[in-house]
Order: sequence, then structure tokens, then C-alpha cells
Amino acid sequence: MVESSVVRIGGDLPVCRMGFGAMKLTGPGVWGPPDDEDNARSVLRRAIDLGVNFIDTADVYGPGDNERIIADALSPYREGTVIGTKAGLVRSAGPATRENPGISMNGSAQHIRTSIEGSLRRLRLECIDLYQLHRVDPNVSIEETIDVFRALRGEGKIRHIGLSEVDVDQIKRAQSVVEIATVQNIYNLATRKHEDVLAYCEANAIAFIPFWPLHSGDLAKSEVVQDVARRLDATAAQVALAWLLQKSRSVIVIPGTSSIDHLEQNVKALEVQLSPTDLEALEQMVA
Ligand SMILES: NC(=O)c1ccc[n+]([C@@H]2O[C@H](COP(=O)([O-])OP(=O)(O)OC[C@H]3O[C@@H](n4cnc5c(N)ncnc54)[C@H](OP(=O)(O)O)[C@@H]3O)[C@@H](O)[C@H]2O)c1
Repeated sequence: MVESSVVRIGGDLPVCRMGFGAMKLTGPGVWGPPDDEDNARSVLRRAIDLGVNFIDTADVYGPGDNERIIADALSPYREGTVIGTKAGLVRSAGPATRENPGISMNGSAQHIRTSIEGSLRRLRLECIDLYQLHRVDPNVSIEETIDVFRALRGEGKIRHIGLSEVDVDQIKRAQSVVEIATVQNIYNLATRKHEDVLAYCEANAIAFIPFWPLHSGDLAKSEVVQDVARRLDATAAQVALAWLLQKSRSVIVIPGTSSIDHLEQNVKALEVQLSPTDLEALEQMVA
């Protein structure tokens, strides 16, 4: 890996800043397995062949199917492969819709301990390199939930701990319990409400993992982004990813795709350089 394209999670785990978000390798509404599991496995293997070594998943994707497919495709894992999974959400039965995401939070010790056993089994791992709290449960203090993560790390089941959809105050509260290696919040060209979190992560050696880097695919279709892409002989998806990579050296991107063509295209975003004129043009994307 070229040093400029690497972030060290927790200071010791080198990952390529071009990661892969596996969530969409499930059925519609992130429910059940994908229609074409062979394709899902091929995409994951191609990602590793292209030098991607960080795969992001969660126990609720499927639920369970996404982690199982990752292990089916990649286990035994190539040395240096880093799997990040998450706990703290519970899915009610059936595909998620905009009206009914079918998700609730559970940050209790009992839930997290049950979740990690399922993730370790499905992923065929003895230790999870990056275990992320998917959402803070409003009924359980973040200190109490993160203390369970701290205990699991002491038991050798977790290497590093991350948070998702948190504000700066919540990160500081979690850090009062244990070191936090990563934060995964929504952030992309069109959605920038977490600028303060990104700045905090950068200042505190926390890797920042923007989820929905392509705004769930919308940025690949945006005319503003396509205009910039044409000038660079790149694609709009590459421009949206390059913008994130250029935004901060702390960023690891995790675009999701079920297409090998799109995957190959996305990985090449590491080579796209945006000029000040391009960056100015992209400012129109701020929501
Ligand atoms: N922490 C959280 O709460 C949270 C929430 C949401 C997501 N996430 C994480 O973020 C990851 C990424 O999210 P996401 O997959 O929902 O959204 P995304 O990466 O922003 O966009 C994925 C969409 O973009 C399309 N796409 C990808 N590459 C493309 C390209 N080169 N050209 C055109 N279209 C392209 C994909 O369709 P094709 O399949 O056709 O390529 C897919 O529909 C997830 O896998 C998950 O790991 C985390």
C-alpha cells in the first residue's frame, strides 16, 4: 500500500483509505441475503485483490447474512484484512422502508455480549479488529455501553473500538471510558452536518469513516458532480469519493456496490486530484 493512501486504525492497524461498505450485499431493504450470493462473494474477493483491506459490516445487515457472506467469500482472511462490524441495533422482521426502518436501539450489556458472540461465529474470527457501537441507546448511558466494549477488549474479543452517529460530546464521554479508534457518521458532498465531528477526529487521531459516501448513489447522478468529473476525465462517483479523501487525511471511505465495474471505478478515486477550481464548483452541493 502507498503510505499516502493508508490510515492506521488505533495507531497500529494499517488500512487502505479506500475501504468497502458491504451493507448493500443483502436483500432489498437490507433484509435477508442478496439475490445473487455468487456475485456478492465475487465483489468482496475483487475488492481484496484491488488492495482494499477494510470491510465494513454490521450484525443487523441481513441480519447476520452480510457477515456470513463476508466470511464465505474471504475466510480464511488474507493477512492484513480488517473487518469492522457493529452492535447496538435490533431489526424487527421484514425489509426496511423509508416509512418504517424497523430498527430499535439496544445498548445493554446483555445485548452487546450476545451480539458479539454471533458476529465472531458468523465472521469466523476469534477477535474483531474494529467493533463499533452502531447507535447510542437513549435508555442506556454511553459510558455504560462502552464499558462493555472495554471489557470485551480486555477479554481479547475486540482489538479497537469505534462509534457511529455520535456528536463530539458523546465521543468525549466514550473516551472517558476507553480509547476510541474510529467514528462512523453520515458525511458526504451533500450532507456535511458533522464538520465539527470530523475536525475533532482529525485533532485526536481518530479515523473518520463517512457513511453514505455517495449519498446512497445520488452523487453519482448529480449534474454538478458530473460536470467536474467531465473536466477530469473521471466519473462522478470518483469525484465524490476523491472529495472525501482530499477533505482530511483521517478519512477512510467505504463506498458500497454490488457491481465489479463500479468497484474498480471507485478504487481508482485514490488517484483523482481535485483542483481549487473543482473544489469551488463542488461547494454548490452543500445542502
Ligand atoms: N453506520 C451507519 O449507521 C451506516 C448507515 C448506512 C451505511 N453505512 C455504511 O456505509 C456503507 C456505504 O453505504 P451505502 O452502500 O448505503 O451507500 P453509498 O456507498 O453512498 O452508495 C451506494 C450506492 O451507490 C451505487 N454506486 C456505487 N458505486 C457507484 C459508481 N461507481 N457509479 C454509480 N453508482 C455507484 C451503488 O449501486 P451499485 O450496486 O449499482 O453500484 C449503491 O446503490 C455501507 O455499506 C455501510 O457499511 C453505515
